[in-house]
Amino acid sequence: MDRISPLISTSTLLWFIFVLYSFSKVYGNSEGDALNALKVQLSDPNNVLQSWDPTLVNPCTWYHVTCNNENSVTRLELGNASLSGQLVPQLGQLMNLQYLELYGNKITGKIPKELGNLKNLVSLDLYMNQLEGRIPSTLGNLQKLRYLRLHHNTLTGTIPYSLTTISTLQVLDLSYNRLRGHVPVNGSFALFTAMSFYHNPGLKLPVSSSGPIKSMIFLRRRTRMMINLRSIIIACNILSRDEKFYEVYESHLQSSAVEDVK
Ligand SMILES: *[C@@H]1O[C@H](CO)[C@@H](O)[C@H](O)[C@H]1NC(C)=O
Ligand SMILES: *[C@@H]1O[C@H](CO)[C@@H](O)[C@H](O)[C@H]1NC(C)=O
Repeated sequence: MDRISPLISTSTLLWFIFVLYSFSKVYGNSEGDALNALKVQLSDPNNVLQSWDPTLVNPCTWYHVTCNNENSVTRLELGNASLSGQLVPQLGQLMNLQYLELYGNKITGKIPKELGNLKNLVSLDLYMNQLEGRIPSTLGNLQKLRYLRLHHNTLTGTIPYSLTTISTLQVLDLSYNRLRGHVPVNGSFALFTAMSFYHNPGLKLPVSSSGPIKSMIFLRRRTRMMINLRSIIIACNILSRDEKFYEVYESHLQSSAVEDVK
């Protein structure tokens, strides 16, 4: 027994060190590793990611990265940074991320479905890139999201209905893509006007108008309560000044028929 004990305690100690080491490797800088995976995928001609050193204990001293008091990443701010390359699924590991700002780059490829794991995300700004493929339906899991701006990309497919369940959503911009199908009108989407969806040739809007934006807002106000209204087609009108038109238009709506007002 006397001989075995030191042997056991040495191996226990070694085991303990091994566990600690693996633990710190897996969890200690897992967020740094996730961000480094992104860095590796990106081409960075202006060296904005130069300070991203994966050997540091955490990424909190890296430029364009903000952490909370627990050294967990809350913001990633890389807008207008001339980055190209693709996003990585590892971004979905940044569990406390609130702001993901990657707008105005030349990022290609798909939006990783793993971004739906970012339960604390408030703002997802991937606009003005070259992203393609579908909007992942997993983004509907982002139940704290307030800003979702994906405009000016080449996204295809339909708008996932899951997005209508994000009750916190305040700003939605999906314009200038190649989305198709019907724009959802229920849930949080009741707030959004045609402006959120402009320039998607295959997309069918619930309200369509060639009138100026001011009038669109007016139409919106008038149609907000008309829950069953599927579409209004208004062509060749002078919408900006003619108050009489509005009255005619309103009575058309009250007869609750879908009308082609000419
Ligand atoms: C990003 O670049 C665009 C186009 O050059 C510019 O309009 C915009 O103000 C810039 N945004 C920020 C936050 O710097
Ligand atoms: C909106 O309608 C779609 C399809 O009917 C449904 O899947 C989705 O859950 C609805 N959203 C809300 C917030 O009720």
